[in-house]
Amino acid sequence: MVTNASKRSALTSITKVLNPVPQTDHPSRKTPDSLTVESLLVHGGNEIREESRAVRLPIVMGNSYYLPEDTEGVDLSDPDLLVYTRNAGVNQLGLQSKLAALENAEEAAVFSTGVAALHAVLFTTLNSGDHVVVSSIVYDAVWRLLEDLLPKKYGVEVTFVNSADLDEVRAAMQSNTKLVHSETIANPTTQVVDVAGLAAIAHEHGALLSIDSTFTPPVFFRPLEHGADLVVHSLTKYINGHGDALGGSVAGSRALIHTIKADALVDVGGAISPFNAWLITRGSVTLQLRYERHLTNAQELAEALENDPRVAFVSYPGLVSHRQHTLATRQFEGRGYGAMMAFAVRGDAAAQEAFVGALKLITSAVSLGHDESLIVNSARESRRGFESYPPEFHEWGHLRLSVGLENIDDLIRDVQQALDHAVGPLTDA
Ligand SMILES: Cc1ncc(COP(=O)(O)O)c(C=O)c1O
Repeated sequence: MVTNASKRSALTSITKVLNPVPQTDHPSRKTPDSLTVESLLVHGGNEIREESRAVRLPIVMGNSYYLPEDTEGVDLSDPDLLVYTRNAGVNQLGLQSKLAALENAEEAAVFSTGVAALHAVLFTTLNSGDHVVVSSIVYDAVWRLLEDLLPKKYGVEVTFVNSADLDEVRAAMQSNTKLVHSETIANPTTQVVDVAGLAAIAHEHGALLSIDSTFTPPVFFRPLEHGADLVVHSLTKYINGHGDALGGSVAGSRALIHTIKADALVDVGGAISPFNAWLITRGSVTLQLRYERHLTNAQELAEALENDPRVAFVSYPGLVSHRQHTLATRQFEGRGYGAMMAFAVRGDAAAQEAFVGALKLITSAVSLGHDESLIVNSARESRRGFESYPPEFHEWGHLRLSVGLENIDDLIRDVQQALDHAVGPLTDA
């Protein structure tokens, strides 16, 4: 019999594989590159200041900073100087340095939301007449920005592609293609892309690759190490992890991030509040511990759902039935397969609603990556990009599930009682 414990041990510990070799012999709180990931998560972005000696960096709510007596030569728009909190603030700088270290990037920029971060990438890298190749299964706001707003307002050319099909991506590249954009694991279908393959195509054509890695936080997968130029996160999700703050980030080379800060943070706005930066820095302390549990819970729940005849389909990269299971195993090197899945119960739209309505532990709400499990019935044909979803999503609809940190047996029991309610009890026949 395969026990839960033996299934768990089949996954390689996420930090065992992803820990970079520290650059010095002696670990120190003050030098992030001397730390392994677990220590970085605890100490990164924090600072003990002489004036307070508090063990946690205080929240600095001032919206501007005392200027030097002689401001000659001081660039008041410098995104790295403490002048005005839209450009930089103490808590914002702390979070930026922590995220850059976690992504193994030269620099990171933080924003008020994940969408502000995504907009910053598009706004900075694309000019009128430029072309972008984007995955046809991508977060809703990116769809609207690229299908509607940027083409109409600024004459940006866009081709939507199946980004899991490298031949299709290659065929879409043009001489004016400046950017390729995709999610590592796509929202909501869980399609997985080959990041190194996309990077090779983008670079052959002189374009940048930007990866939205919201479903795959840096303790699990670091796109820059696979050739991406920019990695975007909605910090609202796993990195904060507690469902109580919004934020977004972009990490990459110093030159690119400096341009993004100067063009899209200082002069467009979208700065994160010091309070949210502080909350996200604190939430991220437990990222590795949380994500290990997210991974094992998701694998077990996906298997339980797939083995239940009342479930029509389950789309989860950790299942052999998933279209990119082999790619996911190779790319994520046995660490797991994320903690997001989509599935449908065997029934019509009313059955999907009845199932969600009957859940007593899993919360019906949008968002993902929180401590609690969240489910959303987002099977609306009006959803942007719906025509690109796999056939089973069209046949049955789909429920998107973000598997949380609850006890796995409680989660399975909640799903089973909701299936009893929506479809009927299991029969022996
Ligand atoms: C993959 C992905 N990227 C970006 C976002 C946007 O993030 P935010 O809600 O923080 O703006 C979301 C939100 O669900 C998302 O799922």
